[in-house]
Amino acid sequence: MEQLKGLILSGGKGTRLRPITHTSAKQLVPVANKPVLFYGLEAMAEAGIAEVGIVIAPETGSEIERAVGDGSRFGLRVRYILQEEPLGLAHAVLTAEGFLGESPFVMYLGDNLLQGGIADLVAAFREHAPDALILLTPVPDPQNYGVAELAPATAAGEPRAVLRLVEKPVQPTTDLALVGVYMFTAQIHDAARAISPSARGELEITDAIQHLVDGGMRVEPHIVRGWWKDTGRLEDLLEANRLILDTILERIGGELLDCRVDGRVVIEAGARLERTTVRGPAIIGAGARLYDCYVGPYTAIGEGCEITNSEVEHSILLEGCTVCNLDGRMESSLLGRNVTVRRGDSQPRAYRFLVGDNSDLSIL
Ligand code: G1P
Repeated sequence: MEQLKGLILSGGKGTRLRPITHTSAKQLVPVANKPVLFYGLEAMAEAGIAEVGIVIAPETGSEIERAVGDGSRFGLRVRYILQEEPLGLAHAVLTAEGFLGESPFVMYLGDNLLQGGIADLVAAFREHAPDALILLTPVPDPQNYGVAELAPATAAGEPRAVLRLVEKPVQPTTDLALVGVYMFTAQIHDAARAISPSARGELEITDAIQHLVDGGMRVEPHIVRGWWKDTGRLEDLLEANRLILDTILERIGGELLDCRVDGRVVIEAGARLERTTVRGPAIIGAGARLYDCYVGPYTAIGEGCEITNSEVEHSILLEGCTVCNLDGRMESSLLGRNVTVRRGDSQPRAYRFLVGDNSDLSIL
């Protein structure tokens, strides 16, 4: 098989992660202190892919370019492809046709995370040489995804045939969701050209794959064995953070004074902790300052955060946040860059907020 290329889709509006995505691309939100997009790039490099196109949107494209650069630090050659309008995943493929040419390729949605990478799948794609290979996994809420219906198994070990794919069905007939990682041959370009926009006005990749099935092409389904997360919503992002932190290895690079550190914890160089307890898995970014704190499991604290006299657990704090004198424990929270959360000591006691559009505050 010809050399495989990679296509990472990194546009979209990220409406479900507002207000974070008012100012930043959803693919750059960090999971365990690393932008979610970087996991996809690393997976491509690991699978032996050398050339990757990243489809970007006008609003966030330059931020993605700044973060990824020419790709050399991932061992990749990265090209950027501007999709002027968010007209769907199949439209993104057509936009990238000049880059892809006749090459087979792996398409990876930039906000998706797949345990164990894609090396095995790329090997299966090369070996079985189907026209397309899709990944599926059972989910509790299939109506939020593209959903697949498969034919009953024939011989043991043989992949089941794909019968039907439906994008976000109101009444799903199965719980098998399409994971945001696909492998295609150049056949997909004609399929993407043949379909019409969906009810949401997009050229759906799901419909393009259905077109392959209808045309008698071989679409091979793979059921994902490990975990998969689409990090488009807060709960999923926190869950992805938890799953990645579960795999980290202890590394203490910062300075600790009168601290207690239990379990797997990463403290980056230049961080300083005083009279603080950290219960892992947790990661604390370079240059962070923590005084008289408790940091609980599944917490990722970004670079340069300053936390004083507070408790934080199961949360993601982006760089430069300040948290000070909280009464209770902060948990299951996502703070954007340079956010301040503090309790003052003046009377009368009251809540005082300066928050952006689409913020979500819960006083529990
Ligand atoms: C897209 C696809 C959908 C797939 C999902 C996976 O949905 O259209 O088929 O199941 O990604 O993350 P979107 O995230 O654009 O709503």
